[in-house]
Amino acid sequence: MRVKDTLAAEFDQFSDSYTEDIVRIVPHYLRLLSSLSEGLPDNFSAANILDLGCGNGNVTALLRKKYPDAEYTLLDASADMLAICRERLSGINMNCVRSYFRDYTFPEDYFDLIAANFSLHHLDSVEKQWIFPLLCKSLKQGGIFTCADMMVNKNSAEHTRLVGEWRKFINASYPDGEKWAWMAEHHDAYDWPDDYTDQKSWLHSAGFRRVDTNWRTGYWVSFSAVK
Ligand SMILES: C[S@@+](CC[C@H](N)C(=O)[O-])C[C@H]1O[C@@H](n2cnc3c(N)ncnc32)[C@H](O)[C@@H]1O
Repeated sequence: MRVKDTLAAEFDQFSDSYTEDIVRIVPHYLRLLSSLSEGLPDNFSAANILDLGCGNGNVTALLRKKYPDAEYTLLDASADMLAICRERLSGINMNCVRSYFRDYTFPEDYFDLIAANFSLHHLDSVEKQWIFPLLCKSLKQGGIFTCADMMVNKNSAEHTRLVGEWRKFINASYPDGEKWAWMAEHHDAYDWPDDYTDQKSWLHSAGFRRVDTNWRTGYWVSFSAVK
């Protein structure tokens, strides 16, 4: 089995205390999450929304405040994460799909909004260049793909800086060093972030007209790409 095929099990294990942990593991997590909603134009309306790599549903929980009547598709490989979504988000028009992205048939010309918060760094460069055109095709004209994530290629010098800063951030909440040890192992096995400049260029090649930065500090970036 390839390491990538164990991602669902990795996040099943992470699901119980996900939000409590993630805010102390990922710098700026809440700021980046809220930027996905704040970055949308005031006059933008969305009837069909895809939460791509939804995890425990934090993005949908945020967007439902703005678009309470929309139909939400929550896509994730982790069954346990989706079980939490079903429980916590009951009452909204929601379709939970358990699937790896590669096995999902993205409907064409269907979504007004696709949101991915910290899910696409699990795809490597080739996979991002595969999925961006599919996301673009899956959006209606004028639709928006909004995404927040860590954006720095593991081969760049900046990545060494990220690891140093990140270790300090995690150790401030978990001083015994065990959480950082777990994170470093997870990052090694499951994370394939890419530079923002590369991703912008792939988004344009995929057919997006414009890419706007919602919020950014260093390699922690949120953008909106408009079809
Ligand atoms: C770090 S969590 C982010 C969860 C959530 N979007 C949030 O706002 O916190 C990444 C999620 O993406 C899912 N994921 C990552 N790559 C995936 C893939 N290729 N196919 C399906 N799900 C994937 C994982 O199962 C996990 O639940």
